[in-house]
Amino acid sequence: MAQQPANQHKETLLQTLLPFDQAVRARHSVRHFLAKPLAQETLISIANDAQLAPSNCNTQPWNVHIVSGAKREVLSQRLLQADAQGLHSPDFSFDMQAFGGAYGERRKQQGKIYYQSIGIARDDLEARKAVVKNNLNFYGAPHAAFLFMPSFGDNVRTAGDIGMYGQTFLLSLAARGLAGIPQTILGFYADTIREFLSISPEYKLLFGISFGYEDRNAPANQFKMGRAPLNQSVTFHD
Ligand SMILES: Cc1cc2nc3c(=O)[nH]c(=O)nc-3n(C[C@H](O)[C@H](O)[C@H](O)COP(=O)(O)O)c2cc1C
Repeated sequence: MAQQPANQHKETLLQTLLPFDQAVRARHSVRHFLAKPLAQETLISIANDAQLAPSNCNTQPWNVHIVSGAKREVLSQRLLQADAQGLHSPDFSFDMQAFGGAYGERRKQQGKIYYQSIGIARDDLEARKAVVKNNLNFYGAPHAAFLFMPSFGDNVRTAGDIGMYGQTFLLSLAARGLAGIPQTILGFYADTIREFLSISPEYKLLFGISFGYEDRNAPANQFKMGRAPLNQSVTFHD
């Protein structure tokens, strides 16, 4: 087989899956993708992996819509229009100011590291608007998955199941040498997305995942978020 240049090789779908310890460490939130789409069979393989996620009483409450190609282009335009018109329609609240203590500090740290990586001052409001637009352009990814769910009670258990699905989806991408990013912000335009994809209002949008090949040269992808020491999160009892 002819040898590929190093950077071209990096963009090639892995033929064998990464072992778990490598996949879970390779996964990170990517904010700049190559335009190159994935083959339909790869999309199906990823969806098959995610389908194995656990759920309360095996209810499997995920209802997932994967958008690619021309539809992806038009949907991004609709989202940008909705944003310009201030048409926000989140199904679930999102109050970041409510995150206090260590959680609030981690949130601030994440924003600082990200904005530094792309060379934006935190008080540069125009540049921050561009960041929102990037989100609504799926960070250039050729595919976006929208994770809808039925609404039951306070929705907490169902949302937990959707989280299980989302991480299984993301690890499947990572194991294949691909990348993705979960995006709560996409859920702020739930009505726009439901209308465009003809989805019944009984399904609520928790978040989306933009995905594809990582642009490994992009400044936005050059950092990896750290994690708190284990003793801040886990207590062992015996
Ligand atoms: C449910 C969920 C929603 C998120 N929403 C967004 C989003 O709207 N936009 C964004 O740029 N990042 C979003 N993120 C990415 C987080 O900022 C990222 O996971 C966190 O900083 C840890 O970095 P890592 O994923 O690279 O390990 C989201 C992550 C999760 C789990």
